[in-house]
Amino acid sequence: MKAIVFDEHGSIDVLRYREIDAPDLLPGEVRVAVRSCSLNYHDVFTRQGMPGIKVPLPGIPGCDCAGVVSEVADDVSGWSIGDRVLVDPVKYEDGKMWMIGDTLWGAYAEYVVVTAEQLIGLPDDISFDDAACLPVAYGTAHRMMFTRGQVTADDSVLILGASGGVGTSALLLAKMRGAKVIAAAGTDEKCAQLADLGADETINYSSTDFVKYCREQTGSLFSGGGYDVVVNFTGGDTWAASLKCVKQGGRVLTCGATAGFDPKTDLRFIWTAEMDIRGSNGWKRSDLDQLLTLTRTGEFSPVIDSRVDLKNGIQAHQALEERAFFGKIVINASAPA
Ligand SMILES: NC(=O)c1ccc[n+]([C@@H]2O[C@H](COP(=O)([O-])OP(=O)(O)OC[C@H]3O[C@@H](n4cnc5c(N)ncnc54)[C@H](OP(=O)(O)O)[C@@H]3O)[C@@H](O)[C@H]2O)c1
Repeated sequence: MKAIVFDEHGSIDVLRYREIDAPDLLPGEVRVAVRSCSLNYHDVFTRQGMPGIKVPLPGIPGCDCAGVVSEVADDVSGWSIGDRVLVDPVKYEDGKMWMIGDTLWGAYAEYVVVTAEQLIGLPDDISFDDAACLPVAYGTAHRMMFTRGQVTADDSVLILGASGGVGTSALLLAKMRGAKVIAAAGTDEKCAQLADLGADETINYSSTDFVKYCREQTGSLFSGGGYDVVVNFTGGDTWAASLKCVKQGGRVLTCGATAGFDPKTDLRFIWTAEMDIRGSNGWKRSDLDQLLTLTRTGEFSPVIDSRVDLKNGIQAHQALEERAFFGKIVINASAPA
């Protein structure tokens, strides 16, 4: 099959679009002809190599995909060749979590092999592109904003990195709950796009200090200033600064650390504001079911920046790494089912 493969970890130069033998099917498994694969920042981490996670080499990135069943192991029932499916990227086996595009070969490829339990039937009225956007970024945002974050209409919510996959989803979900959203991103153009998506206020943090903005708009933290919820999956230098934007009794939600996982912090703000710092990791199947329903009813529309063919997937990955996109990028493949 054709795939985007890396034989060693490193910069974007390690990616190759080439032929690779598709894996054999083991009992319990299904082969899916990938139609759409959405990109996540996790793909960059997989390519670079992550401390504590052993990625088999050669590796294939791509955690999120939807497609058509092309082969079913003899012992699998309930799925047939031609079925439209969304793949839940994660499976649990031998007491461990495994994920495609991470510890298993991913979906920057014509085919991906997963267990039957990872398949979710895809109704005809949800496109492969929309479905492929849902699991990693949107599923995680759904759990973070609703289950862990308990965001309500009474909340003001500051989202850093709001222009990416998790960010745009967090914005849409917070607006769905009726919250006031202050969306922060790195360019004026992205801020304009965030306003179009429903953000009540936007901050271009390349030109505006978001802590100063918060202070000017909401007042001193000692007299009711700050936001009820601050969403920070960027980490790095933004972490300590974002604690200065949390209202008394507010909460910080985090599911990632794009710019660094061991940032400097400032304990004074944590105790003075009596804030809750809530971690959120991944999604449950119920998050995906709810997102599929919302997508089907049109209440939720994945934000797709662009679509490229598999042979141009390396350029798409580069755009992701260089932050030259808004929402999600989708790679399309069309090998026979
Ligand atoms: N725990 C989990 O289960 C889970 C699940 C999904 C994602 N995550 C994590 O959440 C984070 C966001 O994921 P994503 O897929 O939404 O990423 P993404 O689509 O690439 O969006 C991240 C956005 O953050 C902003 N950003 C700020 N500093 C950055 C930096 N140093 N490098 C790159 N981008 C930076 C960029 O927007 P501007 O250009 O506008 O600044 C970028 O568009 C990642 O760290 C990812 O690993 C965790």
